[in-house]
Amino acid sequence: MNLIKFPLLLLSICMLMAACFSGKKNTTSNEPVSLKNVFKKDFGIGTALNTEQIQEKDPKAAVLIPQQFNMATPENIMKAEIIHPQWDNYNYELADKMVSYCEKNNIKVNGHTLIWHSQLPLFARRIQSVDSFKTFFTDHIKTIASRYDGKVYSWDVVNEALNEDGTMRKSVFLQKLGDDFVTEAFRTAQAAAPNTQLYYNDYNNEQPAKRAGCIALIKKIQSAGVRIDGVGIQGHWHLGRIPLKDIEESIIQYAALGLQVMFTELDIEVLPRNFQGADVSQRMNTTASSNPYPNGLPDSLQQKLADDYASLFKLFLKYKGKVTRVTFWGVNDGQSWLNGWPIRGRTNYPLLFDRNFLPKPAFNSVIALKRK
Ligand code: G3I
Repeated sequence: MNLIKFPLLLLSICMLMAACFSGKKNTTSNEPVSLKNVFKKDFGIGTALNTEQIQEKDPKAAVLIPQQFNMATPENIMKAEIIHPQWDNYNYELADKMVSYCEKNNIKVNGHTLIWHSQLPLFARRIQSVDSFKTFFTDHIKTIASRYDGKVYSWDVVNEALNEDGTMRKSVFLQKLGDDFVTEAFRTAQAAAPNTQLYYNDYNNEQPAKRAGCIALIKKIQSAGVRIDGVGIQGHWHLGRIPLKDIEESIIQYAALGLQVMFTELDIEVLPRNFQGADVSQRMNTTASSNPYPNGLPDSLQQKLADDYASLFKLFLKYKGKVTRVTFWGVNDGQSWLNGWPIRGRTNYPLLFDRNFLPKPAFNSVIALKRK
């Protein structure tokens, strides 16, 4: 090699290495920008998966999911009603499929959920005797948590045990087993799944009163010497009304308990709604104005959604390390539960990907935070 070419070669190698280590996308590559890569050093990026997606029957989702997400939560198929339909009958087919699908695609599974008052099988709702109910409760956790120990990364051990004022919800679990059922659920899960992270999950638990109840609940578990690794704030929020201050305060206070903080069911409601939260038993009546954007979201609202998502992710980034996962409740707008709740048949736009799996302005605004 002659002396003129050598410095040029050296310069090219240095430029290539700089490009590789800068973390920025190679502008000549066609590789799509990916949430999981862009936030790789900050927190995990998850999505809820529905049955079709788990069964890989949705070809466009099958491309987008492994490209964008490194964590996933089954939207319904690990809930008691589906995985444990009868007293002595467990149905693992879809849960096993979820685990193998995620393993194949390097996606960590958050099991959802062991104990929840909603979507309980009929037989469990009919149990009268306290002893039988206790047996159901213990067997359910033991059987499922031990089967998937080390196969799922984490469990939402208990979901939505609190009322809005921070008191305990008068669920069937509370009525039959008393106030300690949450601690007992974690104790049983800890024994059955020593290699799995254990979380408490709720909605509106960033709100001061409910947060205080949630902290009391966590402290109770901890003071019983039982393991709890994290707390999930679901994050079903509303356009233009993201409670950023409460969210920040919650991250600080939950993290101070030694817990990981996760945003586990993130979506932003853009349609009219007269209440906050995600209590599935709440419904609204259809009116002439309940479905205002059947043919597309106006640009001004699209921009507002982008701004809301950017503010949220800015906050999550400020607390990276404390915030360990952000999971969207659905892959694209067309697949969101918010098209059917609290009013059936609406056209909603709460996520980062549109009905054709294309990134929305909100996707770009979130990515832009890391490209500055
Ligand atoms: O299983 C039946 C199926 O047999 C039937 O064909 C179909 C027809 O509509 O309905 C199916 O059940 C539906 C189920 O989703 C599975 O698709 C229920 O009607 C429907 O109510 C249920 O909704 C789920 C909801 O939880 C129920 O509690 C949503 O998909 C799911 O997104 C939502 O998720 C919850 C979290 O688990 C906890 N936090 C709140 C969040 C939003 O509500």
